[in-house]
Amino acid sequence: MPSGWVADLLSDTLTKPTAAMRAAMVEAPVGDDVFGEDPTVAELESRVAGLLGHEAGLFAPTGSMANQLGMRLHVEAGQEVIADSLAHVLRAELGAAAVLSGISSRSWAAERGRLEADGPLGLMSVGAGPYQVGTALIVVENTHNFGGGTIQPLETIREVRAASREGGVAMHLDGARLWNAHVATGIPLADYGREFDTVSVCLSKGLGAPVGSVLVGSKELMARARIWRKRFGGGMRQVGILAAAGLHALDHHVERLDEDHARAARFAAAVGEVAPWVVSPEAVETNIVMLDLGETRWAPAELVDAAAQRGIRVYAAGPRAVRLVWHLDVDDAATDAATEVFTNLLSRN
Ligand SMILES: Cc1ncc(COP(=O)(O)O)c(C=O)c1O
Repeated sequence: MPSGWVADLLSDTLTKPTAAMRAAMVEAPVGDDVFGEDPTVAELESRVAGLLGHEAGLFAPTGSMANQLGMRLHVEAGQEVIADSLAHVLRAELGAAAVLSGISSRSWAAERGRLEADGPLGLMSVGAGPYQVGTALIVVENTHNFGGGTIQPLETIREVRAASREGGVAMHLDGARLWNAHVATGIPLADYGREFDTVSVCLSKGLGAPVGSVLVGSKELMARARIWRKRFGGGMRQVGILAAAGLHALDHHVERLDEDHARAARFAAAVGEVAPWVVSPEAVETNIVMLDLGETRWAPAELVDAAAQRGIRVYAAGPRAVRLVWHLDVDDAATDAATEVFTNLLSRN
């Protein structure tokens, strides 16, 4: 493995562009995208919009910016967004919604990030008059990163959608890993996408592109998002080179995500057999495995160090949790090596 690790399971953002992806980037026709003249970007935007059942798309440099644009479109300064307490928009975008858009936020607790209708519907504050902050937006994350790759149930999304529509509250999907939910369930991307006013998806996670996300929504919303993208400093020029990597990823790296899921499941089954208090294989739905160290002698940082000494890189994801993420650059041999290291370390409790 080029990184020097026997298995690098830190994140699915680590993937290096393949030779074929790099070749596609070299060949891409380009233009100045701030003037709307990059044909490769236009192709990517309309393709992703079509896949997600929306009218238009907007290429963004990062998933964080795509989410921030989505929030900015629906929420005025002083209004609130609500999301579960593990959501990337609340935990890992460094307060951007407050800093950039004056948005306030509240959260509901969700076991493993799983959406239950009571969460958002119990918090949603509609018609609160001048006394309370009004809820303008619900954000749902699918799959759920810090929840451990959890897939959100479509029926629950629909239930929340019906109630939010009645209350005039918009919905945004942080679909950084929606591809994984689609491949794991067979549910068409558009079935998820149509339940939301805006959706962001990432090309630089499991899909293996070096950079890039796409925000989709109505033509009118995307025209406004284009202005906010420029205002946020995200207007880019001959960026078809990067969009080409995304198009290549859509052609070649979506269906293969089931290999990542199978490897993560294989690892979880083996570790779950020797240390069932650490991981239950049923909890592993996609490419992420969360180990709960609560019943062991391990602190997350110590387990991370012990694994690193044996060539396996993983992430301390909380006071009791260690996270492992499968991706394009982790093969069967790397999975076997990680399995051996973790079964050895954890079976001794
Ligand atoms: C669920 C989720 N949303 C959004 C992002 C943000 O993506 P980026 O790192 O490109 O800003 C991430 C990044 O890991 C993520 O896991």
